[in-house]
Amino acid sequence: MNSPVMQGLNLNAPAYVKNARLLAWVADMVALCKPASVVWCDGSDAEYDRLCQQLVDAGTFKRLDPAKRPNSFLAWSDPSDVARVEDRTYICAEKKEDAGPTNNWMAPAEMRKTLQPLFDGCMAGRTMYVVPFSMGPLGSHIAHIGVELTDSAYVAVNQKLMTRMGKAVYDVLGTDGEFVPCMHTVGAPLAAGEQDSTSWPCNPTTKYIVHFPETREIWSYGSGYGGNALLGKKCLALRIASTMGRDQGWLAEHMLILGVTNPQGKKYHVAAAFPSACGKTNFSMLVPPAGFEGWSVTTIGDDIAWIKPHADGKLYAINPEAGYFGVAPGTNTLTNPNCMASLHENVIFTNVALTDDGDVWWEGMEKDQGKFPAHLIDWQGKDWTPEIAKATGAKAAHPNARFTVAATNNPALDPQWDDPAGVAIDAFIFGGRRSTTVPLVTEARTWMEGVYMAATMGSETTAAAFGAQGVVRRDPFAMLPFCGYNMSDYFQHWLDMEHKLESMGHTLPSIFCVNWFRKDEAGKFVWPGYGENMRVLKWMIDRIEGQATGTDTMFGVAPTYGELNWTGMDFTPEQFNTVTSIDKAAWVEELKLHEAHFEQLAYHLPQALVDTKAAFEKRLAAL
Ligand code: GTP
Ligand code: SPV
Ligand code: MN
Repeated sequence: MNSPVMQGLNLNAPAYVKNARLLAWVADMVALCKPASVVWCDGSDAEYDRLCQQLVDAGTFKRLDPAKRPNSFLAWSDPSDVARVEDRTYICAEKKEDAGPTNNWMAPAEMRKTLQPLFDGCMAGRTMYVVPFSMGPLGSHIAHIGVELTDSAYVAVNQKLMTRMGKAVYDVLGTDGEFVPCMHTVGAPLAAGEQDSTSWPCNPTTKYIVHFPETREIWSYGSGYGGNALLGKKCLALRIASTMGRDQGWLAEHMLILGVTNPQGKKYHVAAAFPSACGKTNFSMLVPPAGFEGWSVTTIGDDIAWIKPHADGKLYAINPEAGYFGVAPGTNTLTNPNCMASLHENVIFTNVALTDDGDVWWEGMEKDQGKFPAHLIDWQGKDWTPEIAKATGAKAAHPNARFTVAATNNPALDPQWDDPAGVAIDAFIFGGRRSTTVPLVTEARTWMEGVYMAATMGSETTAAAFGAQGVVRRDPFAMLPFCGYNMSDYFQHWLDMEHKLESMGHTLPSIFCVNWFRKDEAGKFVWPGYGENMRVLKWMIDRIEGQATGTDTMFGVAPTYGELNWTGMDFTPEQFNTVTSIDKAAWVEELKLHEAHFEQLAYHLPQALVDTKAAFEKRLAAL
């Protein structure tokens, strides 16, 4: 292989980079990708400002009005590059069974053969950025280090907001510390003298998001968007980390983490798994409504949790991320005021609309502003007016438009969000987007029942997933696109946790199943959701404290109408019944779907799940 020095390109590694494996890997990747230059990111504010300005000069970023959104930028992606590409995402374990039926698989050697010619020269004419980052507090025993090599300055600046990124990572890495190598290219090499013809270079036809779990490597080709490109997030912190968790006895989960403190000052910690675009960011920033004076909710994380059993028999969770890459549409001061407050300055917006006065707009903001703006430039750079929208249905912001913002912008940030020890989890919540069938909330009677509820969770698809919208797909633990190994082995890993924790002598966290999304006959959400979800959260705490008896249903213990605090909200017992009733015929169909789901996962499926299904069937038959 040509050494980079032979090609005339000096690596220019700073003196503080002393990790031999890292230096050798960068040299190899430079030889492979053949960038025009290499930049070692130090994570400083000056570097961030310089790269943002460079993105402005290249046309990728628009600087927003400095009075309205100080130091904030708007990027519009290529219309072919707007979300994760699940059908192009691979888990390349040596054995196909270890990737399991829910993941795309290719043998590692074959995948390497496929990627080699794609990566050969893929960065021609571009800069390679070396982006060192820590998932989890720097130097914490729970944290893991990644180094992303990318030809996208957009990725580098996003990583600065999303992770602990920069020079200090090298101190932790030392001469022989471990890191996960994360290779990323937009897959758009430039010929000699060629300039970009687009402000969002990517490969319109070829994309690969590849994980080698055994060697803990990530290779991403062709996309510059979100989880395809910010490799610390879904690729490292979920797909690779879930396999580490399997091997080392911990959990990497698609979960928000929040703290909730009652008026007496007692604090609880809850981790909740909802599929993509099903309300994690919103729930993690919940503002308690009227009737909950003295209560507070604080955010530890909004998307990913790493959870480890401790010697005291409790599960401790950290948020490996340091920022939020959140869904913009639907966010406003009525639904999520803490989120809106987080977006005042130092934000990168992607695929939202631009207002005539240099600010951002997305669907849902009209509820704050009392009206639609008269004119916008939509996310594809076209004129947008309410009339055009009415006539054509055109959205000003892409439904998967996002903001990137540091966690420290969040006014409700939990004081322990950065604590390397993490927080002890009192309850897990699982919930999908279901317009029918699944009730507002039930509590699993046992750990086993909770794992069953999570394993069979379904959700109606949204913009984050590829394909038709509104179709129910099974999304076990909200991990369908993120579990780095065989899903049935993952279920077993969760089941094993019960005995592990019990043997340590601690009470297990409670497990709840929720659904904020039941609709009425007119197709409208019946449950108001957002801040009002506090009423359900409070009932969960009452259950933990033994202060709510609930009522036994076919699918767990449900609240009675009288057990929820209704102060400040008009919600009749009839409406409550609409969101909590169990429809026998619908559940007969639902359990058939669980059956089909289990058939798909038959290899290594824990027998205990099959037995639990039979127990639910028995309860249903008795209704
Ligand atoms: P990812 O970042 O993709 O993992 O999504 P997320 O789970 O963090 O979802 P987020 O909180 O960003 O919400 C996604 C969409 O669901 C937004 O359009 C919200 O407005 C909407 N949403 C969130 N919570 C609720 C709720 O309680 N009720 C209703 N009806 N909609 C909600
Ligand atoms: C999700 O899809 O669950 C996200 C967005 O959080 S992305 O980072 O693109 O995966
Ligand atoms: Mn997510």
